[in-house]
Amino acid sequence: MKEKWNLKRLIFNISSLVDLGQEVTSSKGFNDKMKTTLYVVTGMFSVPKAALFLYNSNSHNLELLTHKGLREIDGTSLYVRAKHIKIFKKNEPYNISEIKDNSFCEHNGGAFKKLQTKTFIPLFAKDEFVGAITLGKRLARGSYLPSEKDVLKVIANQMAITLHNSNLFKKLTNKVTENKKLYENMRHIYHDTIQAFAAAIDAKDVYTKNHSYRVARYAVAIAREIGWEGRDIEGIYVAGLLHDIGKIIIDRGVINKGEELNTMEISEIKRHPQISYDILSKIKFPWKDVVYFVKHHHERVDGKGYPDSLAETELSDGVKILALADAFDAMTTDRPYRGKLSLFDALREVKKCLGTQFDEKISKVFFRVLQKEIKGEIKEAQILPHLDKDFDPAIITTLLEAITAELTA
Ligand SMILES: [Fe+2]
Repeated sequence: MKEKWNLKRLIFNISSLVDLGQEVTSSKGFNDKMKTTLYVVTGMFSVPKAALFLYNSNSHNLELLTHKGLREIDGTSLYVRAKHIKIFKKNEPYNISEIKDNSFCEHNGGAFKKLQTKTFIPLFAKDEFVGAITLGKRLARGSYLPSEKDVLKVIANQMAITLHNSNLFKKLTNKVTENKKLYENMRHIYHDTIQAFAAAIDAKDVYTKNHSYRVARYAVAIAREIGWEGRDIEGIYVAGLLHDIGKIIIDRGVINKGEELNTMEISEIKRHPQISYDILSKIKFPWKDVVYFVKHHHERVDGKGYPDSLAETELSDGVKILALADAFDAMTTDRPYRGKLSLFDALREVKKCLGTQFDEKISKVFFRVLQKEIKGEIKEAQILPHLDKDFDPAIITTLLEAITAELTA
């Protein structure tokens, strides 16, 4: 009879363990998973009241995670110190009267009473103390048989591993959030530094105040229109801000000379894209190809640009965008050796230089985006706010439509 009962018990325990295994590995949220696991345990051993605690290594307390059959115990915590953890046997069920350390029992006497604790199981994952289970009075029998204690130990071990993994996951998530914040801070610092650099570049050239800023904006407008997004947009913006950084090294007298430059001075000025590249290539930018956009912003599609006289096929869209944005701003602002062109004349000049200085596809996009900005079809206009307001929108629109029609024909 007793054997039959033991067999029944054993089958019950095994099926409960299977249930428990399924719970622990289920895709439920962590709290739900732990709650159901505790329910399986209490069902298995006929314990109507139980609680599960998580160890907080900062407060050195066991904090209530979930419970069953108890009332008004929210916020209950258990006092535990290193000396207690040291004497606990891993995942071993204790009758609380067996716990020898007085300070542990004294501090937790009140809480144990509220929790109606009879059995205390410290949870360890490998050597790390991660939490504890408290079990109340059993309905069927008082003490646990050695075989039941073994089953309890197996369950405690499972629960400890789950708690441990959850802790690791939380730590990892915190680390990721922290790193994300650090990255965001770094980006801000990066941007501020780059803006400061751009201001320094533009300050050197009295005629081109805010030139880098406008080039960056124009380049962003074109890049967005051809479908660039996110980091690529950031990259072209930064390239726009820094494209003339090499001018920092060029003689101020040459840059601001009010008359036509001689051959020597022209070759001096033409050094600046290479110098820009030399300076910037020492920086590990988080954006792709910034240094190449900068180095080649004076290249042309007919291969007559500098410093490398690259062929059209060797020029990326980024380079073509920056070259156009730079030249367009140069045309529409005063220079030491000539006055600025009107918007009408500048657009005709761009059209005239298609296939020689500028890329046709990119220029078409530029005409289109400017048209959209004039019509108010773009929420955040990037070009229009920086142009002189003395043009007639109707005339410019007609011109842009004519150019576009001619290019499409
Ligand atoms: Fe330049």
